[in-house]
Amino acid sequence: MKNLAAIILAAGKGTRMKSRTPKVLHPVSGLPMLAYPVRILKDLKAQKVVVVIGHGAEAVRSAFDGAGVGFVLQEEQLGTGHAVMCALKGLKGFKGEVLILSGDVPLITTETVKGLLTIHKGRGGKKPVLSLITMLLDDPKGYGRVVRDEHGSVVRVVEEKDCSVPQKGINEVNSGLYLVEAWFLRENIKKLGNGNAQGEYYLPDLIELAVQSGQKVKALTHMHPNEVMGINNRVELARANRLMRLRKAEELMLSGVTVLDPETAYIDSTVKVGMDTTIYPGVHMTGETVIGENCVIEENSRVSGSVIGDNTTIKSHTIVEDSSIGKEVVVGPFARLRPGNSISDNVRIGNFVEVKKTSIGKGSKANHLSYIGDSVIGARVNIGAGTITCNYDGFTKHSTVIEDGAFIGSDTQLVAPVTIGKGAYVGSGTTVTRDVPAGSLIITRAGEKVIEGWAVRKRKKK
Ligand code: UD1
Ligand code: CA
Repeated sequence: MKNLAAIILAAGKGTRMKSRTPKVLHPVSGLPMLAYPVRILKDLKAQKVVVVIGHGAEAVRSAFDGAGVGFVLQEEQLGTGHAVMCALKGLKGFKGEVLILSGDVPLITTETVKGLLTIHKGRGGKKPVLSLITMLLDDPKGYGRVVRDEHGSVVRVVEEKDCSVPQKGINEVNSGLYLVEAWFLRENIKKLGNGNAQGEYYLPDLIELAVQSGQKVKALTHMHPNEVMGINNRVELARANRLMRLRKAEELMLSGVTVLDPETAYIDSTVKVGMDTTIYPGVHMTGETVIGENCVIEENSRVSGSVIGDNTTIKSHTIVEDSSIGKEVVVGPFARLRPGNSISDNVRIGNFVEVKKTSIGKGSKANHLSYIGDSVIGARVNIGAGTITCNYDGFTKHSTVIEDGAFIGSDTQLVAPVTIGKGAYVGSGTTVTRDVPAGSLIITRAGEKVIEGWAVRKRKKK
């Protein structure tokens, strides 16, 4: 959007979080909370975005490196007004409107910000120098209260700590989201004082400055206070995560995904899910996960950073990390796919099977109790219960290759590096330490002995 710049305030310590991590890096639905205003400004194509950083500046800067925003350091956190004063260094020569957002208000939507832009432009009449979003709260504690005159016009915002007793009773509060004319901001930001209860330069004092100099201020009262809720402590962080979770579940349901219990479907904002997929309670899906159509993700499974094809079922209590899975695959229950797997279509991975850095070809099966690591497995391979690829010799990792159509009997150890040729057979209980040619059988077996009547005699002795 032409003539639109933005400032995101993110320098505060977030004392109430009681954390070594800067507040704006705490995750909400899988992304640091600062990512949400950044994303909105990208949606709106703001010409320039300046993030004010201070506490944990380097961590914030590196987390948002390449996000298309500029940074200004506020060395001492002297208040939101002072933060904006610092930010203006990054907006030299800019003429137009400046959006000011807080880094700790992640539930805000593009629609709401657009609403602010719309009321600011208005229809005729005098253009305001400043517009802000307010909200009505049953419990306004902690927020700045919006004071209006007898005509209902906003005259100032008073911070909680500076409120008189009657002012504390006001339940319309400042959301901390503003749109200000750049010229007005430049001329007035230096006029802010810090003679208040916290000894800080308060940004909302600009409102009073505007009104006193005969300028117009507009306020948009938001009907969904949750959306403009600020996060100051971990109770609010949990509340924001819950609301975001419900928002995501709703978005998915409206796009054709069945979410059996939205309250316990932990699906990060970054995840994509195809139509007619069903998500059971207690599922966690994080990162850049993409689930196909008509899949089933059963209860208490975790899928992170993975791509899953259509018609695949992830049965309960299964973990899938950084892997790709094809179509019509069944994984679990109780399976663990560690990072780096590529699983083809129609594969079956059953209970208590762990797979790591392995590719598995079409139609292969490992149905029970196995460890398969650093392996390349062909198509139509059958891996029996209790198969272990011994990939580590105490020094380095080695790979196992099992070619198409091979049959691995139960309770087998494949000591890597080793190759089992096409269609070869490994007899149950074999420890394989050499390559097996295609089409052959390998078997190691101690001789069996049957001693008739032995058990009967033993019992009699007792
Ligand atoms: C602020 C508003 C309050 C409003 C509320 C809405 C002020 C003085 N008060 O209060 O009217 O109701 O937001 O959520 O603005 N920050 C800096 N540098 C500083 C101080 C703060 O960058 O020196 C940043 C913080 O990191 C945060 C944002 O500004 O992202 C808001 O600061 P915070 O201390 O959370 O203000 P509130 O007390 O919530
Ligand atoms: Ca806040």
